[in-house]
Amino acid sequence: MEKTNNQIELDNSFVNIYGNNSKHPILILFKLYKGNYGRFALAILFFIIKHSPVWILPIITSNIINIATYPEGHTEKDILINVLVIIALIIFNFPMNYLYTKCQSSAIRQVEANLRSALIRKLQQLSISYHKEMESGRLQSKIIRDVEAIETLSSQIFTSLLTIGLNIIVALSITLTKSMTVFVFFILTVPVAGITIAMFRRSIRKRNREFRREMENTSARVMEMVELIPVTRAHALENEEIKKMESQLNEVASKGYRLDIVQANFAAVSWCLFQAFQVICLAFTGFLAFKKRILVGDIAMYQSYFTTIVNMVSNLITMLPNIAKGTESITSVGEVLLAHDVENYKGKKKLKNVIGDFKFINTSFAYEDGKEILSDLNFKVNHGETIALVGESGAGKTTILNLVIGFNKPTGGMVTLDGYDMNDLNLRTYRQHLAVVPQATILFSGSIRDNITYGLNSYTEEQLNAAVKAANLSSFIESLPEGLDTMIGEHGGKLSGGQRQRLSIARALIRQPKVIILDEATSALDSNSEREIQTALDNLVSDRTTFVVAHRLSTIRNADKIAVIGNGGCIEFGSYDELMEKKGAFYQMRKLQME
Ligand SMILES: Nc1ncnc2c1ncn2[C@@H]1O[C@H](COP(=O)(O)OP(=O)(O)OP(=O)(O)O)[C@@H](O)[C@H]1O
Ligand SMILES: [Mg+2]
Repeated sequence: MEKTNNQIELDNSFVNIYGNNSKHPILILFKLYKGNYGRFALAILFFIIKHSPVWILPIITSNIINIATYPEGHTEKDILINVLVIIALIIFNFPMNYLYTKCQSSAIRQVEANLRSALIRKLQQLSISYHKEMESGRLQSKIIRDVEAIETLSSQIFTSLLTIGLNIIVALSITLTKSMTVFVFFILTVPVAGITIAMFRRSIRKRNREFRREMENTSARVMEMVELIPVTRAHALENEEIKKMESQLNEVASKGYRLDIVQANFAAVSWCLFQAFQVICLAFTGFLAFKKRILVGDIAMYQSYFTTIVNMVSNLITMLPNIAKGTESITSVGEVLLAHDVENYKGKKKLKNVIGDFKFINTSFAYEDGKEILSDLNFKVNHGETIALVGESGAGKTTILNLVIGFNKPTGGMVTLDGYDMNDLNLRTYRQHLAVVPQATILFSGSIRDNITYGLNSYTEEQLNAAVKAANLSSFIESLPEGLDTMIGEHGGKLSGGQRQRLSIARALIRQPKVIILDEATSALDSNSEREIQTALDNLVSDRTTFVVAHRLSTIRNADKIAVIGNGGCIEFGSYDELMEKKGAFYQMRKLQME
């Protein structure tokens, strides 16, 4: 599926936002919301209206107390007016709250979805070697848990932070208009809050990072453990596995515990500080009223504004750990979005059609620096030819096939396809004409039909049946009550090894590819099935360039060329008859199998 311009822009913008390493995660968060600022401005407006009763109530309260204590010049009507004003504002809260939630939630949920889909698209671009390195559980934790933490952070910022900010501003402004002395007293809370935050910030951040890493480890371990259960059970290693998992879980618990402790200390210290401040404020305003510098009703007003300020500052402080968690998740997601190990075909040559001529020119390959698996490989495969790769286990046959697929990039020399260096090609256009039957069959939970026709936009029932027949699957499928629509379980777990392999062959056959790669495609089959499939494969490979790895050398009699791989290179090259006549390495191998 081609990406739409829109999606590419979105991906690029996420990557650009993350690209500048010096940026603080919170700045990155704000950038993620680019394009939604309008909705947030509206949300703030609705918020102010919905929230206004909270700010007006202390004034009303003070008015009513003052009317009651100093009734001269007032009537009962004045009390009524005050009450009506506040009731009207309270009733207005409901519709405004609805509008506010609508604006902010739609923006936040949208960004959440965009972020996840940017991650998923990035995963589809990252190279196969990146995926081999990265555990799937870790990726899952990033896509689910971290994006969720970012979403939580966003709603917190746009709800709590907005409440906190506005409450403080309003309380301070009203106080300022009423009494400069009280205002100055209020302002003193700022440095105290600042010092408390500074004291705890670093350790909260550190504990959060440790906890997040440990959660990712757990996620990866759990995935691995579940996949390993059959092996574990077969070797009666359940208790060992449980012990291993438990020690991992204990690690999470201890990291979580440390995080909780530091957060709780922080919350407790700030709570004590601010409660003390509140008592001092009461004493202070009481003293002012005693000296007749303010009215008695004003004590209630200032006290409730100060309580608001103190509560807001302490809310801000208790939010801090969550902010730390969210920013940690922003960093975590960035680790994937910024990974450079992608298959990038931008500006590379697109192939209109594939002929299937391959050349290995002084090709070398190493998985790790300095440890060459293949060196200076030179051979040629013309279109329509079948080349068989044989050699000991670990000789590098699958590695060569991965060079042909383009999963591996040569570390020296090059591999050419139809005369072009494969590094210069848009490999997607080539792989549309490629079918691979890998050494370890990869199936997904779905029906047999889904697995065979994976990714095909259109196919006819005849084509499907032909592929099934050629792969020698017909009688098996007919024996199933639901036939082609039988579900095969996760990774095809409900099928036998040979059935899985034949399904994988059918998947290759239906694609009508120009290039075919068969890595031990018939290793799990009995001689009878193998012979039958051999005919199908012979049909399949006619007119198509085929790379085949086979341990059973009888199956490659018809190959046009045989390459014996060993010692990091090609030790023999030629047709079956030539190599048998030569009485070299191939002859020895063949003789061993015939005995
Ligand atoms: N991802 C990897 N990272 C590091 N080394 C690897 C990797 N994959 C394979 N190797 C090493 O490269 C060598 C060649 O592996 P390869 O899979 O190509 O062998 P093979 O000829 O296909 O063997 P078999 O017949 O057993 O399938 C082996 O020694 C293996 O340990
Ligand atoms: Mg192999």
